Amino acid sequence: MDRALPNPGPPVRPVHGGIKEEELRALGLRPEDCLDFSASVSPLGPPAGVAEAIAAVDLTAYPDPHCLALSEAIAGHHAVDGVTDGNVIVGNGSTEIIHLLTRAYIEQTPGAGSKAALLLTPTYGEYDGAVRISGGKVQTLIANRVSSGFAWDMGAAAELVAREKPALTFVCNPNNPTGVLLGRQELERLADAMAGVAGLLVVDEAYINLSERRGEADIVALAAQHGSVVTLRSMTKDYALTGLRLGYAVASAPVIERLAALQPDWSVNGLAQAAGVVALAADGYLERARAAVGASRECVVERLEATGIRCYPTEANFVLAQVGEAGGLRDQLARRGLFVRDCTSFGLPDCIRIGLRPVADCIRLTDAIAEEWSVRPD
Ligand SMILES: Cc1ncc(COP(=O)(O)O)c(C=O)c1O
Repeated sequence: MDRALPNPGPPVRPVHGGIKEEELRALGLRPEDCLDFSASVSPLGPPAGVAEAIAAVDLTAYPDPHCLALSEAIAGHHAVDGVTDGNVIVGNGSTEIIHLLTRAYIEQTPGAGSKAALLLTPTYGEYDGAVRISGGKVQTLIANRVSSGFAWDMGAAAELVAREKPALTFVCNPNNPTGVLLGRQELERLADAMAGVAGLLVVDEAYINLSERRGEADIVALAAQHGSVVTLRSMTKDYALTGLRLGYAVASAPVIERLAALQPDWSVNGLAQAAGVVALAADGYLERARAAVGASRECVVERLEATGIRCYPTEANFVLAQVGEAGGLRDQLARRGLFVRDCTSFGLPDCIRIGLRPVADCIRLTDAIAEEWSVRPD
């Protein structure tokens, strides 16, 4: 059943994907021997021109603290949604902006204001971590896996908002790790519920650009106008700028000003800013990335299901697969240099999440999973 859980306790660092040097050393592996399926980024790698743009950056100059050129490029990218550069804040990854949001709307909430945040779970761990670091109380609406395939009861979400009056509600769309996509109407309903309690709805669209159904769901236009909505985008993921760290938020000007007031100067480095401008101008890149994701998704799902492994339907560039004891399988694959995300930290200890890389890599991974699967203990 969907339910709300008050969840007090000290801040705990969230668990993330990505390959850690410490583990490589312990396994005796070199980075070039490994394939990372544990982070879900564009399978195409960075767009053409990014490497040259980075090489041309003057390393002796401070980066623009206001990221003006990049903010203008982002506004231009979303011009049809009515976005201007006053509706944009750029961050050192969208993760930085998640922390700015909890600082602005939870830590700095005066006096008797709400310190609660509602999370639609299972979801990205950084929301919980940021709320706790900001001294907030986490409440969750848990999606029912069995009866609704991880879809949330959105009526229950609106009721919870009315009752608990959270300062922030976080929704990830499509959701990490379940791949569930909410439609625009459901989000608008939640936005109205949050406006009714003077709270802010945060819709994290980190994976939406790589989703075929983004047109039914993205709420950038709403975020630019509706004072109670902010949307987050991750250029890290869209353009595989993973090592550079780049993300942004779109919201009404007062929300952007409140976040900007808390952001340290120069947190977005000059290489990331230059790369972002070039990436946004890369014609046809996202279309090609979505096509590559589609081909890899078909390959992974078909091959895993042929092995007898259930894959949940996904609208994102990753696949959630039910494999039994996820931690054990993850470690066996890691010994082969293949890194997937064990979903135990999401409360799904029987699932792994596979970020979709090019098809040849996916064949290598699914072959390895089939071999490990065939010798698993009953
Ligand atoms: C849902 C979601 N939002 C945000 C992020 C962070 O992205 P960024 O690299 O832009 O900080 C992640 C990373 O895994 C994510 O899964």
